[in-house]
Amino acid sequence: MEVKNICCIGAGYVGGPTMSVIAQQCPHITVTIVDINAERIAAWNDSDLSRLPVYEPGLAEVVAEARGRNLFFSTDVDGAIAGADMVFISVNTPTKTYGKGKGMAADLKYIELCARQIAAAATSDKIIVEKSTLPVRTAEALKSILHNTGNGVSFHILSNPEFLAEGTAIQDLHRPDRVLIGGENAEAVQALVDIYATWVPRERVLTTNLWSSELSKLTANAFLAQRVSSINAISELCERTGANVDEVARAIGTDSRIGPKFLKASVGFGGSCFQKDILNLVYIARSYGLEEVAHYWEQVISMNDHQKQRFADNIVQTLYNTVSGKKIAFLGWAFKKDTNDTRESAAIYVADALLNEEANIIVYDPKVSAEQVYADLDYLGTRAPKENRRLVSVVDDPYDAAERAHAIAVLTEWDEFRDYDWQRIKDHMMKPAFVFDGRKLLADNRLADLGFTYYAIGE
Ligand code: NAD
Ligand code: UGA
Repeated sequence: MEVKNICCIGAGYVGGPTMSVIAQQCPHITVTIVDINAERIAAWNDSDLSRLPVYEPGLAEVVAEARGRNLFFSTDVDGAIAGADMVFISVNTPTKTYGKGKGMAADLKYIELCARQIAAAATSDKIIVEKSTLPVRTAEALKSILHNTGNGVSFHILSNPEFLAEGTAIQDLHRPDRVLIGGENAEAVQALVDIYATWVPRERVLTTNLWSSELSKLTANAFLAQRVSSINAISELCERTGANVDEVARAIGTDSRIGPKFLKASVGFGGSCFQKDILNLVYIARSYGLEEVAHYWEQVISMNDHQKQRFADNIVQTLYNTVSGKKIAFLGWAFKKDTNDTRESAAIYVADALLNEEANIIVYDPKVSAEQVYADLDYLGTRAPKENRRLVSVVDDPYDAAERAHAIAVLTEWDEFRDYDWQRIKDHMMKPAFVFDGRKLLADNRLADLGFTYYAIGE
């Protein structure tokens, strides 16, 4: 089965970068990424590459190389499906906000809509690839929809979860630790293996059955998030005992069975997936009556909520038990560095807790717009949008954020924060000048030497 035309439904943080890299690496395949969001497609087609809807180091270069050659962005979903041999589904699968499983299960309505649209638009046989993160056994539902169309077209379903991390998406796609492909039909699996094998060493392309592939994605995210919650749990103990969490992380990380990665204590993990995928795993376990399994994974989220809350609590307590009317400067709003994505960012929840105490917050983030900051706070629904705008301002100069601030909170580990003129910042702050470092970014005594009162997670 030779694939000449690929369609990807969903031009988001996953669909955009993954398909751009496939197009870059496989000039013999035409890749069309479609989305119902016309504004997003227009941004992907913008001649000014700094306006692509996703910020990722190296992405603009990949798009520049392939766009218009064999990479296309379009709103013509039906047309792209009809012309494709292989259709990737890369739409969002957020946590349900209504009905059964509300707040836990993945909302599969966008996935089902895609399946129905594929069924309606297809006039020839196709391989359908699940790229979105899905509950185990979703392929069964897809099969049921696709195999009952009565139009004589046959479909093979594959699971090919994506493991890229934002901020390093292009490097992760160019040199993945592994690519995972689950499927029942050997020819269809081989067709997708052949695409990746163009640039990924063959031994890194793993093939499994459908259900193992679907479940491995949720499991990988659960394990990764669990490491962050585990080191964050230890960070609190460090703060009480005089141990230093970075030293503990180094000491345990040199054990090759534990490994050094993903042991950075923080104000809490964010991002669109860790929480959503663990909630989904918990929901699935519970739906099979596996209460202990569900309860075990639930703790990873409880610990993360605790970490965000105690970071905010520490700010209030340290500032003499009141932040009402005080100016707190936030350095960073994105959920990690090198991305403009703010979904589930710890900053949102820390801000919300401080706003409940009537703090004034001034946000600076190198890649996040004021609009986005307000949208994130409004989405919580804790207070009226007008109140969020009264209490929060967003600036495009970090020194303006620090001006007459009672405290600075570091919420994202952007590299540039290290290089600021911290003496200048301190000179313009209220005294004592407090810094609460939720990323241990500045934990090298430098700030204490300059006369800041400095608190870092896990010290
Ligand atoms: P996203 O919200 O950025 O993008 C999804 C896109 O799908 C949106 O632009 C939306 O308009 C579009 N869409 C929804 N329904 C559609 C339809 N019927 N037809 C056409 N377009 C439609 O989401 P994302 O971050 O790219 O995540 C997509 C999936 O990948 C999720 O399941 C997520 O869990 C998974 N994932 C995400 C990451 C990540 O780093 N963001 C990494 C691995 C896996
Ligand atoms: C994560 C996984 O790393 C990807 O493999 C997966 O594909 C993706 O989720 C997904 O399914 O969406 P991502 O959320 O983009 O990727 O970013 P990570 O680097 O995993 O960071 C997640 C959060 O954990 C961030 O808020 C980060 O600051 C935090 N983190 C990470 C820590 O606090 N400490 C660490 O040691 C590592």
